[in-house]
Amino acid sequence: MAKESTIRTPIVCVMGHVDHGKTSLLDRIRGSSVVSTEEGAITQHIGATLVPIDAVTRMGGALSKVSVNVPGLLFIDTPGHHAFTTLRARGGALADMAIVVVDINEGFRPQTIEALQILRNYKTPFVIAANKVDRVPGWRVQENQPFLKTFAQQNERVQGILETKVYELVGKLSDLGFNSERFDRVSDFARNICIVPTSAITGEGLPDILMVLIGLAQRYMTESLKVSADGPGAGTVLEVKEERGLGMTLDLILYDGNLKVGDEIVVAGNDQIIETKVRSLLKPRPMSEILIEERFERVKSVTAAAGIKVAAPKLDGVIAGSPLRAVRSGNRDEVIEQVRREV
Ligand code: GTP
Ligand code: MG
Repeated sequence: MAKESTIRTPIVCVMGHVDHGKTSLLDRIRGSSVVSTEEGAITQHIGATLVPIDAVTRMGGALSKVSVNVPGLLFIDTPGHHAFTTLRARGGALADMAIVVVDINEGFRPQTIEALQILRNYKTPFVIAANKVDRVPGWRVQENQPFLKTFAQQNERVQGILETKVYELVGKLSDLGFNSERFDRVSDFARNICIVPTSAITGEGLPDILMVLIGLAQRYMTESLKVSADGPGAGTVLEVKEERGLGMTLDLILYDGNLKVGDEIVVAGNDQIIETKVRSLLKPRPMSEILIEERFERVKSVTAAAGIKVAAPKLDGVIAGSPLRAVRSGNRDEVIEQVRREV
């Protein structure tokens, strides 16, 4: 059977300085989801949030002009505290794209710069969310509106303050060697970084940021996002956790192929390669039903891109950040070698 290649959901890492609004931005995007049974609803994954393209279009409006072939966006949150450099680097390595969240009133801070350096190292395309615009003195809130609509409603003085703050960011980015502009003035995504003014609290600018991300994915990475959905799974371990009733588990972001219960997998431990077998694959249940025993729903298989919890024997000693690969059709030695190289 010929292997079908499909375009998988791009993984978008949300990075930035502590308290600049990364988690709030994702909360607001999730909160705008309609009832979870409806098709195209935004869902929570292990360590990630999946926004299907339907939901993007619903929020984005302006998107309809672009022909869309990306199935959606999978967002990963990262902590901004300075102690979590490795977590951020891991997120950065995994990401196809990123949002760097900057409090527009505070400007660049140390972890903003660190995030930009990580993204530069990995050559990851990104967009800047100039967040907390609702805190600009005199700002008049227009809930959930695209940026240009809400900007048009502000008085000249407020518009002036916003422009100045955006240009401060442009200046900082330029010092670091990045060309940038307010997103609505960017015509070539390859040459300029888009700055999108947003508010994670009022939803202003969120349609635009989703639109810019889809635009980036569509124009610059549809080739790199082509995966074979029925190929052996490959992913990155975000966390290694003991879970009551499940034993040791891995929180995994799967970025290629699929993973099935019973699959042989290879991961990296502290000082050796670990071979084991997937016992169960667990998805988080919607947030409304979080009785401890029923936090997870068991599934038989999962296809990239996705965040999933993997339970398996022999996981003690797996290191966070480790690559994970499934073994299929007897290529065990090859896979072990690959995992060894990727650690
Ligand atoms: P860390 O995970 O600790 O790095 O922080 P974070 O970047 O995830 O920030 P978080 O979303 O937790 O927000 C920090 C604080 O800023 C919270 O009190 C939010 O309510 C507030 N906040 C975030 N975004 C906005 C915004 O757009 N406008 C306003 N007014 N407050 C915001
Ligand atoms: Mg946070």
